[in-house]
Amino acid sequence: MDHLSLHGNTIEHSLGFTRKTAMSFWSNTTKRVRVAGGLILFSVLSITLLCYSRSFLMPTMPKVSLHYGVDSHSPYNVSKVALLIENRVNPILTPLLIHFMSVVPPDWRFRFMGSNESVDYLKQSSSIRGHVESGKLDLTYIPENMTTGSQEEISTFLTTLWLYETVLQPAEWLLNTIGLRRVSAIVDVLRNQVRAPHSEPEDVWLAERLGHRPGAKLANGTASLTFSGEMHRGKPEQVPADEDGEADNADSTKAGKLMKGLDDWRDGFYEPMGYHTGDSGNTLHSGIWGTPAQRQHIWKYCPEMKMTLVMDAAKYVPGNCNNQWKRWNTGDEGEGTDELGVATEIINGVEYPLLPAGLTPW
Ligand SMILES: *[C@@H]1O[C@H](CO)[C@@H](O)[C@H](O)[C@H]1NC(C)=O
Ligand SMILES: *[C@@H]1O[C@H](CO)[C@@H](O)[C@H](O)[C@H]1NC(C)=O
Ligand SMILES: *[C@@H]1O[C@H](CO)[C@@H](O)[C@H](O)[C@H]1NC(C)=O
Ligand SMILES: *[C@@H]1O[C@H](CO)[C@@H](O)[C@H](O)[C@H]1NC(C)=O
Repeated sequence: MDHLSLHGNTIEHSLGFTRKTAMSFWSNTTKRVRVAGGLILFSVLSITLLCYSRSFLMPTMPKVSLHYGVDSHSPYNVSKVALLIENRVNPILTPLLIHFMSVVPPDWRFRFMGSNESVDYLKQSSSIRGHVESGKLDLTYIPENMTTGSQEEISTFLTTLWLYETVLQPAEWLLNTIGLRRVSAIVDVLRNQVRAPHSEPEDVWLAERLGHRPGAKLANGTASLTFSGEMHRGKPEQVPADEDGEADNADSTKAGKLMKGLDDWRDGFYEPMGYHTGDSGNTLHSGIWGTPAQRQHIWKYCPEMKMTLVMDAAKYVPGNCNNQWKRWNTGDEGEGTDELGVATEIINGVEYPLLPAGLTPW
């Protein structure tokens, strides 16, 4: 109570003081000053009232903020990166890369790592340059202290901690060699272990160690067959018996379902997400490639596969153009054709290029 009354007295006292000061101030001012003061008071009050009313917003200072790297308006998710490494120059590089970008879900970004020559080659394409400008594609160089000339060098490259920890930042989901890899898990493995030179290939080496991490989630053999066709066949596709029917093995990873009449050519064939050609295509396993029917199906289901295998299309170029045809890398007319001994195989009356015995793909 003491405190309150003291407080009350103080206010009374202050008010009295203020009143007295105001009165003496007022009597000492001229009329003109009083009018000016009134106007100022009016303006201040009006502005204060306007500021508090919701219908009026004072102009605010523009705010500037800088974001480096992460653009929230970008249609791409920086955590998802598809990585392609190629140091050789090859004319199919451009169409193949553009094709990859069109079939992988649109929020994925692409990163190409190449040599000065292969990057320069890609840059000649205006379509590639467009993808670079839009932020979809990054063209980068294979670091100077690394090489990708052989299987062993690639394995060393892909088991280098620095690549995942620094170069590929901020990627977390990495699409590479028909596999989805989690960068943080790989970093975890590589912080603790170093791959011995000339031991297992990088994918085998990494898969083994990733699988032993606590709580590891790795696709088992059966699951991996749905996305990577390399040696063994997975479940064959089934077209339902009638038009509205559901096939027994309706594959949830595929959009839509097979339809009787439309998809009959796919019935009974194995259709992985992609094909994994061994030793860059020199080894094709009979389980996948062994019969004419299998090959015919692959050419139809995944025609772009042909781009990755050495085939000379000269025989299929119509009219007089055939005479003009040059293999890109030999420049010498006919030479490449002879050397490869281009032969054809006829499957169900249709002529296809025959796979050369020793494939040397790009
Ligand atoms: C990016 O993708 C990851 C994995 O699918 C997801 O968890 C994350 O929310 C996505 N980020 C954005 C900004 O969409
Ligand atoms: C690639 O180009 C850069 C810049 O032009 C040059 O410094 C570098 O030595 C080149 N690398 C190779 C392997 O030629
Ligand atoms: C290459 O250089 C980087 C940065 O200087 C380094 O962190 C990395 O370990 C090197 N890689 C190899 C294989 O020496
Ligand atoms: C493989 O993984 C799938 C799930 O992805 C599971 O349904 C299946 O039972 C597993 N197969 C084996 C043999 O463990």
